Amino acid sequence: MNYEIGVYGLGVMGASIAQNILNHGFTAAVYSKAKEERHHFPAEKYPGKCKVCESEQELVQSLQSPRKIFLMITAGAPVDSVVEALLPLLEASDVIFDGGNSYYKDTDRRCRLCAGKGIHYVGTGVSGGQLGALYGASIMPGGSFEGYLAGEKILKAVAAQAGEKPCCAYIGQGGSGHYVKMVHNGIEYAILQLIGEAYMILRHGLSMSHEEVLQVFRGWQGTKLDSYLIDISVQVMEKYEEDGTPLIDRILDVAEQKGTGKWTILEAIERGVYVPGIYEAVMARNFSAKVEERREGARLIKAPGHDQESSGIREELGDALLLAIALSYSQGMELIRKASDDNGWQIDQKVLADIWRDGCIIRSRLLSDIKSALEEEKAGPLVLSEAYGEFREADRALRRIVTWADGAGMACTGFSAALHYYDYYRTQDMPVRFVQALRDCFGAHTYMRNDMPGHFHTEW
Ligand code: 6PG
Repeated sequence: MNYEIGVYGLGVMGASIAQNILNHGFTAAVYSKAKEERHHFPAEKYPGKCKVCESEQELVQSLQSPRKIFLMITAGAPVDSVVEALLPLLEASDVIFDGGNSYYKDTDRRCRLCAGKGIHYVGTGVSGGQLGALYGASIMPGGSFEGYLAGEKILKAVAAQAGEKPCCAYIGQGGSGHYVKMVHNGIEYAILQLIGEAYMILRHGLSMSHEEVLQVFRGWQGTKLDSYLIDISVQVMEKYEEDGTPLIDRILDVAEQKGTGKWTILEAIERGVYVPGIYEAVMARNFSAKVEERREGARLIKAPGHDQESSGIREELGDALLLAIALSYSQGMELIRKASDDNGWQIDQKVLADIWRDGCIIRSRLLSDIKSALEEEKAGPLVLSEAYGEFREADRALRRIVTWADGAGMACTGFSAALHYYDYYRTQDMPVRFVQALRDCFGAHTYMRNDMPGHFHTEW
């Protein structure tokens, strides 16, 4: 009856979070539906501190009141069935934390369902993969504030620490924590795509050797591009097969996905927010599945000749990548701002820049510039902020990379999307002026004028 927290789900992530909690001196009762996972959990490392339970009842009965249960299970239907099983066993004021990548509308619904029974539900975005879960993750809790407070001490202890500050903060009501985690993943998709394209430009566009490409990436470490994803890019390129072949050369160019990127773009469409980098990243993964068609296409569709001037491309790529990555955060932040306004969540984006500084997949040096941009008096889209002034200097590099890649017939859609997003922001005369005229001509849909207010129709 006296364990401080329960962890439900002992897959890779659940077992890691549970150990992280225990390593910080808390006591934990743990449970998984899967017998093997229960047996594999190293409870013996924590004598007197940890109990592996054999049933949901035992888990609930082992916890101090108000009970806190951290779910680390597959998002979707499994969360509903576990919540359904737990609810009759719990009492008012108990708290359920859902640490998976749940869809935010599901989290909204579960918050309401639980609140109706006096139970607190906290949709808790957790980023950082297995290592983050074990040693310090970025944690984005939303939903019941009272529930959050009940578990705050534990959440902050298991979060990554950026300097003295834990990478964990309450995000807002309802599904806001999972929303922020979803967009975090959308940004992650966009950056991964850009890094993939940068690699392809060097390796195939410029025909550099594996070792030369590795040197370029190593050169980006410790610069403004410094980030977890650049670090692990180097790590990936340092992996070789026994025969000396770089492992990356053996990996099939087909990317899978679990859905958070798709949700992000659906959300963006729903809210009318332009996130082309995230959209292209999702679509590139979708298109990658067409292995046979691409092979056939390579045979049938003539590639453009490689007669372009390539000098400077290698040098400019880093600047282009930096701007494109900065624009990826900008797109994600715009979506979060719109959703926060629409839902009344009052999300403080500066807090996100803080809690993403460590532990999460998109942690990067850039986030300190993002924080400064968000602190500006008239904080609007990051791309327009003073703090982004330096990145904007890189637009020539980005333009050069995009035109060069286009000329070489390499579809670097992540880079072009970043450039389009950027160029839209400096476009005073959008082609939609003509669209409006046509709409009015064929359907009397009316148009607005630039010299007087109101809606007008013309008999064309
Ligand atoms: C994280 C990751 C994590 C997971 C992604 C992968 O923040 O720790 O984002 O949540 O690795 O969901 O997503 P895909 O499988 O869709 O690429």
